[in-house]
Amino acid sequence: MKRQLIKHVLQRDDIGSTVEVAGWIRTRRDSKGGFSFLEMNDGSSFDGLQVIADGSLPNYQSEIQQLHIGAAASVVGELVESPGAGQRIELRATEIVVHGWADPESYPLQKKRISFERLRELAHLRPRTNTFGAVARIRNALAASTHRFFQDRDFLYLHTPIITGSDAEGAGDMFRVTTFDPASPPRTEDHQVDYSQDFFGRPTFLTVSGQLEAETYASALSNVYTFGPTFRSENSNTRRHLAEFWMIEPEMAFADNHDNADLAEEYLRYLFRGLLDDHSRDLDFFNQWVDEGLIDRLTSVADREFERITYGEAIDVLQKAETQFDFPVQWGSDLQSEHERYLTEAAFGRPVIVTDYPFDIKAFYMRRNDDHTTVAALDVLVPGVGEIIGGSQREERLEVLADSLERKGLDAADYWWYADLRRFGSVPHAGFGLGFERLVQFSTGMQNIRDVIAFPRTPHNAEF
Ligand code: 4AD
Ligand code: MG
Repeated sequence: MKRQLIKHVLQRDDIGSTVEVAGWIRTRRDSKGGFSFLEMNDGSSFDGLQVIADGSLPNYQSEIQQLHIGAAASVVGELVESPGAGQRIELRATEIVVHGWADPESYPLQKKRISFERLRELAHLRPRTNTFGAVARIRNALAASTHRFFQDRDFLYLHTPIITGSDAEGAGDMFRVTTFDPASPPRTEDHQVDYSQDFFGRPTFLTVSGQLEAETYASALSNVYTFGPTFRSENSNTRRHLAEFWMIEPEMAFADNHDNADLAEEYLRYLFRGLLDDHSRDLDFFNQWVDEGLIDRLTSVADREFERITYGEAIDVLQKAETQFDFPVQWGSDLQSEHERYLTEAAFGRPVIVTDYPFDIKAFYMRRNDDHTTVAALDVLVPGVGEIIGGSQREERLEVLADSLERKGLDAADYWWYADLRRFGSVPHAGFGLGFERLVQFSTGMQNIRDVIAFPRTPHNAEF
């Protein structure tokens, strides 16, 4: 017999049919009548399946009564209507095979609640909990919707390199990739490390963004997007920074920053509408146990237009605010998390797209505005999380790009191929990057970014 996922079994109404399921035991309750209830979960849905194991089963005493939380088993049985509250159907077992035992003395996930901090140390087992199972399903749904959204709009999915020689943000927060023995790397005559002898014959790093490579393909195939891992060695120990995170980066040729903002808003609202329509069971759980405003917030974001303001207007709003901020607000300084939250939560009560930031606080590739002091940048800020998207129209004019590189103290020689795109058939183009984990945080209400990725990498932590 072919095993079925519990999520499909729970939808069935052909009472009397025989089905096989498999999964992990969540609870066992023994009844006085000489039978037991097993609650089984296989991760396919939030809800598990209740199994009734009768005392007449041949392995009832020898095995079934030794089953505890965490043990793995498969069950063949008959679908019956459930008399109990809480479930519509249950499975009356005719055969139970135990695959793997879990010793209740040493299995760390017992019934009582365990803190998220402790569960980070148990990252190999935490997907078996309600919360982390639900996070994994929501994360998967957002990834699948992302591909659907871009594919439906004729964006081409592009795989950009993970090992790179370019600093896409020009910020220097890169992890070095080398095969040298750190104790004795080859040296040049003037005692510098000689990277010409390294694996790639040059310095290389893990990418901070696929954007620059995506621009090359947008400059040939029109609309593209990447969805891949990115790495930043910034020493930020906050609830919204990871050293390894996933980013979705669409890039559009023949597009300006307004088109960019339109795409960002349409994409986000599409994602949240999809979650509300198709993943309500997991969202209900988060709404009840993690963040009670979640469903209202997702609904209002999906249904209402985002606010759009310039950086200058944002500074005005913040300067007029009654709130005392830790970081002073002045034209020219970057928005801090507290400012982003004020704008989205107190001032506008919705996502805010802030555009036209000062040149001095943004990356070299952003298109210079006619005022010569701001760039056609765009950040999308959302309540609770703050910046979820960063993007811009790109500088398509060769001489302005050269000037920006110089003013940012970057070596134009490192960006020769990027500059070539401005030499040959240059077009206005724009794109953005969505931080996938921040998206999962916003979609679940989970407070800490370490709890929305399977194995978080943060300063001083790369266990597993
Ligand atoms: O604003 P960022 O740095 O923009 C870029 O990397 C551009 N190259 C994107 C583009 O235009 N194609 O990063 C984009 C997003 C941020 O808005 C944030 O959501 C997320 O990536 N992000 C991080 N997420 C988790 N941990 C970190 N350390 C992050 N740094 C950025
Ligand atoms: Mg940014």
